[in-house]
Amino acid sequence: MDQIIVTGNGELSGEIPIAGAKNACLTLMPATLLSEEPLTLTNAPRLSDIRTMSTLLQSLGAEVTSLQDGQVLAMSSHDLTNHVADYDIVRKMRASNLVLGPMLARLGQAVVSLPGGCAIGARPMDLHIHGLEALGAEIELRDGYLHAKAPGGLKGATVEFSFASVGATENVLMAATLAKGTTVLKNAAREPEIVDLATCLRKMGARIEGDGTSTITIEGVDRLSGATHPVVTDRIELGTYMLAPAIAGGEVECLGGKLHLVESFVEKLDQAGIDVTETDRGLKVRRRNGRVAAVDVTTEPFPGFPTDLQAQMMALLCTAEGTSVLEEKIFENRFMHAPELMRMGAQIEVHGGTATVHGVERLKGAPVMATDLRASVSLILAGLAAEGETVVSRVYHLDRGYEHVVRKLEGVGAKIERVKAE
Ligand code: EPZ
Repeated sequence: MDQIIVTGNGELSGEIPIAGAKNACLTLMPATLLSEEPLTLTNAPRLSDIRTMSTLLQSLGAEVTSLQDGQVLAMSSHDLTNHVADYDIVRKMRASNLVLGPMLARLGQAVVSLPGGCAIGARPMDLHIHGLEALGAEIELRDGYLHAKAPGGLKGATVEFSFASVGATENVLMAATLAKGTTVLKNAAREPEIVDLATCLRKMGARIEGDGTSTITIEGVDRLSGATHPVVTDRIELGTYMLAPAIAGGEVECLGGKLHLVESFVEKLDQAGIDVTETDRGLKVRRRNGRVAAVDVTTEPFPGFPTDLQAQMMALLCTAEGTSVLEEKIFENRFMHAPELMRMGAQIEVHGGTATVHGVERLKGAPVMATDLRASVSLILAGLAAEGETVVSRVYHLDRGYEHVVRKLEGVGAKIERVKAE
């Protein structure tokens, strides 16, 4: 398994291009199942999760062709031949469950394996099931698979989510586009990836209003056409790379970055002493003084502070002046990066969903282990300013959500390399 070696190497400067959003692409791809006509995505990120989703869609009979070095995905679901999403694929990537709603709407049936837990939590699907049953689906759990059917088609209904679940909102939104009548989603997720999905579905002929707010209204239509759609910028990759100059010092411009995608995150950076300026090319980031100030962070659904940036923010706060308290409210086990940061000299106390970080002057490089996607990149960020060498193992986690991380950081002056571990 590969390792990434980072050596603290002083201030950074230059530009980092931000790719299309993994979490938008992973819900836009299953949308192809809703139509017999081709759906083409541009600005797609080159990631292993995207390749996993391609494999899943192909197993259902869809055609997925990757063009221009993976930046364009040309898809067609004219002839679907299978309605079973196999455990072997789903267990690797939870987002595979996003084929449930579209398949149910298009075929009137779907069999999707429950994803099983993952490192950061149990991640049940009760909200997905609740929403789809409200549209008239009959869903039964058997042998670890959800067996769903809607022989007479789906019917519009009002669905109230007890929690603003991103995936449940996406699954039910896609299903509702082909349901008979009107569907109203209440307490829907408001993430930019939901808006990107709704924008693409509208291009395909869907009738959707209110995306980006807590109430989304969908008027079902008989069929959807094809479309071509650019994947929205990845706000989590953006926030991740904005933390590189925040941690190491210097100034970096994140190309393609848009302030509206990361407002609550930028508020916290400002409190910590980081300047963010929107330019016509992206977001320019520089640290105001030699050391950042401690800040408290609580993760919430959008537009609150994103849980997917919690680990990266913790890496910054490890060397802040003062004590920071981070509350993880979205997932039950998302502090696995803390013990690894402590190997680098960080002083962190974790109690349940709360981590208290006492800032130290400087971290020391050490061998550390990536445990999940966002934890892996937080260790690399910490290594940028640590004294000496940090060796991050199990970097396959990283490949799921970050394309060319070594090249992008090398490009702004980081001392970083990827080596094949013996
Ligand atoms: C999406 O996951 C993202 N993944 C996650 O990003 C992100 O952390 C999460 O939203 C929250 O923003 C993709 O978009 C592919 P949820 P999702 O449904 O849809 C509980 C990354 O690093 N819940 O909003 O699974 C659930 O257990 C990944 O890129 C239920 O209880 O998130 C969790 O605690 C990690 N029942 C919370 O809600 C359900 O039916 C948030 O889940 C569904 C969810």
